Amino acid sequence: MNSELRIGIAGTGAIGRTHIDRINNKLKGGSVVACTDANPDFGKQMGEKLGLAFFADGEALVASGKVDALIVTAADDDHEKFVMAAVKAGMPVFCEKPLAPTAEACKRIIDAETKGGKRLVQVGFMRRYDPGYRQLKKLVDSGEFGAPLMIHSAHRNFEVGENYTTPMAITNTLIHEIDTLRWLIGEDYASVEMAFPRCTKYTHKDLLDPQIMILTSKSGVRMDIECHVNNHVGYDIHCEVCCEEGYLNLPDLSAVQRLVNASRVQPICRDWSERFVDAYNTEIQEWIDSTLAGRVDGPNSWDGYVACITSDAAHKSREEKKAIAIDLPDAPAFYTEAR
Ligand code: NAI
Repeated sequence: MNSELRIGIAGTGAIGRTHIDRINNKLKGGSVVACTDANPDFGKQMGEKLGLAFFADGEALVASGKVDALIVTAADDDHEKFVMAAVKAGMPVFCEKPLAPTAEACKRIIDAETKGGKRLVQVGFMRRYDPGYRQLKKLVDSGEFGAPLMIHSAHRNFEVGENYTTPMAITNTLIHEIDTLRWLIGEDYASVEMAFPRCTKYTHKDLLDPQIMILTSKSGVRMDIECHVNNHVGYDIHCEVCCEEGYLNLPDLSAVQRLVNASRVQPICRDWSERFVDAYNTEIQEWIDSTLAGRVDGPNSWDGYVACITSDAAHKSREEKKAIAIDLPDAPAFYTEAR
């Protein structure tokens, strides 16, 4: 491996371009030098604009000898083919969430990675890198507040586009909470249930909004997560961990309070790119550092697989209108041992 990581990017859409910018202009130890895209015309155009070598597909990119590692920021349905291209070539790969749209697809990635004998895949569950969530995790792990009993959590967006439909609340949005809460309490889930309050007038015919996900861990910790994606207020992330000896609340980003019009006003963010900018920077910097050191330190493909088993069960709960048991296999040593 070179002392500077040469990175290829598969997917030159919105988040792909923010990762290119942070790596090439803000972070240390790596640079994005090449790209590919499921839409070749679009990828080629972006490659020219950003000064990146363009390759027609993932296989050609990883075989080019121009990159040491791959970042996958393609649309969800295209994650598997790009991750597989890297895994089959023995190349480290960072894949945005979800690892793949279904647990079945994640399992194919796990099988290929295990066959290769080396952990290569990191999944973009960036909440684990947010300074507030890290403080929360440290306090939960300290044991000072006793065992967690319940978590009340919320994921609120100002609005989403017409192409955002009911299942996407689970696959694209709640997938973050599914991973984060499991990591926070250090425990797997036993069941999931979806509930549907009255719909907001701001939604459309193909989107039930808001939705509530109720997760129960194997030891009985009960977690409710509100997902409200057309609140017409702002981007708001809540997490309160209720423990035996106290309540732990995720801090908001600091913002100057304004006293105007006989009111105290505390601004909140407009969207994810503002709220989690520090988390993305830390996530990608730590991925570059651990990749250069030959390790995968962050959420791995087993975490991506477990998240998708849970989201598949949540879809089933919505369709069958009942709680669904989650039957998780134990994590293989390949994914739990430090390596
Ligand atoms: P995007 O829709 O902007 O880009 C995805 C693909 O869509 C591109 O690779 C390209 O093939 C096509 N595309 C985009 N703009 C186009 C245009 N103007 N003309 C033609 N084709 C175009 O999607 P985004 O937001 O970049 O998401 C990519 C992945 O990253 C998804 O899997 C998503 O779930 C994930 N993501 C993760 C976030 C996180 O918080 N970790 C936040 C946002 C996205």
